[in-house]
Amino acid sequence: MLMKFFVVTIDGPAGAGKSTVARHVAEALKICYLDTGAMYRSVGILAVSQKKDPVDVARTMDFKIIYSEDGEKRIMVNGRDMTALIRTPEADKEVSKVAAIKEVRRHLIKKQRSFAQGQSLVLEGRDTGSVVFPEASYKFYLDASVEERARRRYEQLAQKTTPPTLDEIQKDIIRRDNADKKRPWGALTIPENAVVIDTTNLSLEEVVAEILSHIEE
Ligand code: DC
Repeated sequence: MLMKFFVVTIDGPAGAGKSTVARHVAEALKICYLDTGAMYRSVGILAVSQKKDPVDVARTMDFKIIYSEDGEKRIMVNGRDMTALIRTPEADKEVSKVAAIKEVRRHLIKKQRSFAQGQSLVLEGRDTGSVVFPEASYKFYLDASVEERARRRYEQLAQKTTPPTLDEIQKDIIRRDNADKKRPWGALTIPENAVVIDTTNLSLEEVVAEILSHIEE
């Protein structure tokens, strides 16, 4: 029996499959889904392109996720479609810098918590089960080997553009793993009581089914 409103958190390193899994879990549960990485990415890109203080950007940012009828997700920031901009290699580079700023995190965490007011929510990111919602009803941590995560990222980028080499992507993933784990605030960690799932050899359907089995039991 599900509670009236509940929160599901899905954390893990870059490329572990969190976004796709979170979207499918939210669809199956008919609740909303928040990609917290998209918020950090938006701050990084806006701060650089508009030459603004990232803390001010995080504080004033109006962040919305809009789903079109075909299920496509659009990231709208201050009324502007940022969907493509936040997925570029430049965004990958900028995001680690802003994610390490304590005040940026404080503003974004406040916004993330407000998303869950009056509705159930699936969140995915690095600290959603450890810091944003430590009391969440259901917490998951997805992991996969570095090689598999680089392969997935390569395929994702190849659908949109000419991707960097697999080796370059793997190096960037290792760099981001280190930045994510060593951050003084909101570092990537396995949240207390989280169910850990290694997705290296699992299909999307298998991971979603595993998560739902814990929620619907
Ligand atoms: O999930 P992603 O790759 O889109 O996340 C981009 C970056 O944002 C990631 O390298 C670290 C940061 N991030 C964070 O610090 N905390 C979160 N809750 C989500 C993402």
